[in-house]
Amino acid sequence: MDVFEKCRGFYSDPAIAESMGYPANPQRAKELGVYPFFIPLDHAEGTEIVIDGHRLIMLGSNNYLGLTMHPAVREAAVKAIRDFGTSCTGSRFLNGTLRLHCELEERLATFLGKEEAIVFSTGYQTNLGVFSALIGRNDIVICDKENHASIVDGCRLSLGRMRRYRHNDMQDLERVLKACPEDAGTLLATDGVFSMSGEIAPLPEIVALCEQTGTRILVDDAHGIGVVGGGRGTAHLHGVADRVDLLLGTFSKSLASIGGYIAGDKATINWIRHLARSLIFSASLPAPNVAAALASLDLIEKEPERVHQVNVVADQLRTGLKNMGFDVGKSVSPIIPVFIGNAMDALKAWRFLFDQGIYVNVAIPPAVPAGQSLLRLSVMATHTQEQLDKVFAAFLTFGQSMNLRDSAELG
Ligand SMILES: Cc1ncc(COP(=O)(O)O)c(C=O)c1O
Repeated sequence: MDVFEKCRGFYSDPAIAESMGYPANPQRAKELGVYPFFIPLDHAEGTEIVIDGHRLIMLGSNNYLGLTMHPAVREAAVKAIRDFGTSCTGSRFLNGTLRLHCELEERLATFLGKEEAIVFSTGYQTNLGVFSALIGRNDIVICDKENHASIVDGCRLSLGRMRRYRHNDMQDLERVLKACPEDAGTLLATDGVFSMSGEIAPLPEIVALCEQTGTRILVDDAHGIGVVGGGRGTAHLHGVADRVDLLLGTFSKSLASIGGYIAGDKATINWIRHLARSLIFSASLPAPNVAAALASLDLIEKEPERVHQVNVVADQLRTGLKNMGFDVGKSVSPIIPVFIGNAMDALKAWRFLFDQGIYVNVAIPPAVPAGQSLLRLSVMATHTQEQLDKVFAAFLTFGQSMNLRDSAELG
């Protein structure tokens, strides 16, 4: 049997796509005009994009503060290219550490109220490196069931075990904590702001439970930094930053760049620095990306009104959609899901909005469980009232045409 045979079948054979958990094979979705992935943007201007000559309002980006187009951020990146070139061409461990990386690490540690921080090339690699370095054979990572895939992959790469509790369910967490053997080292890992539902982890309760069993805590605040807690994230929002051991995050959202970080006490960060394989065996974050993250951090500290504004825009969109009868779940952040249910309905909804000039993301199986497909909307501090009005008008037409409110199949 040719090992590549399944790849050819995946594109065109519905049975193979289905066996992999996909609702339709890519070819069929393309024929139906509902294939939403890998669409090239010809132009991106923050809140608006151009695809094939059509201008759309961008409601699917994690550019929460709208800083990717900010002159100071762009200028910092350009200057860094002039000063250091386009790549570090080596790992942080060897020739790939610039003074700029150290400056960003110091700034982040101070901003987050931790002793030290270390910067990785992506958020994904940060989770791979941190869990595989920290979790030994006798250790257990306790995960929320809706944690980001990169946490799960980091745990899989470690020698330890993973135990999962029902999403944000404190009774179930208590059960899982009690079931851990006393001699095991335990680390709880949770998203701060959940990347699909826009819900926030109940950190005060999590901290209280973990303290009873001596369980360490890591919060992945990829979607929390720059967005909640005055920009310092979920642990600061809840006033428990000093009781959360490790704060992890990314630069690929509010910080208008790419990269990831982990912040905590000196000894733990030093261990990670010397043992995280995704840091040591991969080239370091290029200078323009470090500089863009630094410039974004400056803006968050000096002009915190953007952090406030993204939440104002989110509240407005969420309330408007709710009032139209859409199910936006329990979102309390700039990530707003619109639950559709059936995967093909979600793909059709995505296409309908696209034709109305609104770009949203769509999540279908295997990214979400069967029957729980959704549109994922995310707002920026820079979205205007005029743009929001257009979004509401499009959703109104969408609601009427899909008969969303009383369609039995959308369940
Ligand atoms: C919670 C969470 N952690 C980690 C990541 C990975 O970050 P990056 O895309 O910067 O690699 C993401 C990405 O969306 C995320 O949502």
